[in-house]
Amino acid sequence: MSDYLVFGVLAAAAAGLWAWRRFHPVSFWYGVAFPARAVLVYLSWHHVASGCRLTRHRRRLRLTLDAVPVVGGASRAEAAVVEHKRRVRRVDVERAPRLGLLRPTRLGWRMRLRLHDGQVPADYQKAAEGIAHAWRVHSVRVVDVRPGFVTLWATMADPLTEVSVSPEPWKLLRVRPGKLENGRDWVMDLRVVPHWLIAGATLSGKSNLANAIICALAPQPVALVGFDLKGGVEFTPYAPRLSALATTRKESVDLLADLMAEVENRMATCRAHGARNIWTLPEELRPVPIVALVDEVAELFLMADKTEKDEVSKTATSLLRIAQLGRAFAVSLIVCGQRIGSDLGPGVTALRAQLSGRVCHRVNDPETANMTLGDLDPAALDAARAIPAETPGVCILAGQDGAWHRARSVFVPEAAAEQAARDYAHLTLDWNVLVGSVPDVRPAA
Ligand SMILES: Nc1ncnc2c1ncn2[C@@H]1O[C@H](COP(=O)(O)OP(=O)(O)OP(=O)(O)O)[C@@H](O)[C@H]1O
Ligand SMILES: [Mg+2]
Repeated sequence: MSDYLVFGVLAAAAAGLWAWRRFHPVSFWYGVAFPARAVLVYLSWHHVASGCRLTRHRRRLRLTLDAVPVVGGASRAEAAVVEHKRRVRRVDVERAPRLGLLRPTRLGWRMRLRLHDGQVPADYQKAAEGIAHAWRVHSVRVVDVRPGFVTLWATMADPLTEVSVSPEPWKLLRVRPGKLENGRDWVMDLRVVPHWLIAGATLSGKSNLANAIICALAPQPVALVGFDLKGGVEFTPYAPRLSALATTRKESVDLLADLMAEVENRMATCRAHGARNIWTLPEELRPVPIVALVDEVAELFLMADKTEKDEVSKTATSLLRIAQLGRAFAVSLIVCGQRIGSDLGPGVTALRAQLSGRVCHRVNDPETANMTLGDLDPAALDAARAIPAETPGVCILAGQDGAWHRARSVFVPEAAAEQAARDYAHLTLDWNVLVGSVPDVRPAA
């Protein structure tokens, strides 16, 4: 009878836990799953650290038990009397890095570790995959480094499966186009890193990222310029918010020439006022920042025949000059392409070197990841190659803080982007007014 009772209670408890997990996974995680995980992590940490080669040998005083022969023992035939003695002596012990408090997060937990002398955060980056397998979690990453400490973040599932960014008041030229894997917002500050290269195979999410950037810049007092050599299909919906849009090579050449002329104008203004860049000009003289978005940059460089050679070389030179001079004069370039290498022609490598912000989506070949991310940590290149096709928008980015991150842009439905473009159409500056070929006759805002 009592067996039935125990069985019944256990079955009811299991069913209750199952229902709790099924219907309220968040409270189940914090209330049951995380504490159980935490106990396992603490209990197994020594083994895991040892397996991942993070332990160190130290000399420590320990109470040892020695067997001391007291009588005989010289030959096997003689009987030996052995006395067991306890002694305190220095012995070699294996010490795991000290584990701090495990702090739960929605998708896993964070924990601080104290580095052994001689260890560097890169040792933990190398060991992260092994730790993730030992703990049976999706991934473990080093997310924070302080002198002598690293913080690891273990996630039970990919945090980039669903991405959303909560709206915040804008700051000039600062956009948050998505989320980083560590749960923070992905901040792209065009005043800090003015030029970006966005690479990725077809359908990897390049244009979506460009759209997310346009949407985030739409409410700001900036002039947006589009180069969409895909016949305008990507950027035409945002035309109301774009000051200029080039959809053919010819239009691009003219628009780039205008842009370059504007950079030279700004240069002259700065020189006249003894300013090093437009941010040090008096506010009333400060020109509007310009952000130029180029989709499918390869189309600007590819030549069908020799007659296009001139146009291509003009385009390449203007783009390069804008990239070189633009920062001080608030002209930013955001260049998207499937592959941006020297095979596109002369000038491309020089342009790429000027685009210091790098975003690499899913790529078809390792060279494209290399080309985009440069000589970053090899783990970043591996991570770029491992992005699956089912998660468009996931990318590896290198920029602002010198580190690399896995990130995903927010999905921008076409309707939302078009709506944003219409809502902020009143902020669109006329291109001819902006470049000074037509006087500004609009009433003062
Ligand atoms: N961050 C994202 N979240 C969810 N879905 C996305 C995201 N980014 C892109 N997608 C999906 O992937 C599809 C392809 O994206 P996108 O057009 O941006 O790719 P692309 O790299 O520009 O491709 P192409 O080189 O062909 O122009 C989009 O239609 C969208 O449905
Ligand atoms: Mg595209």
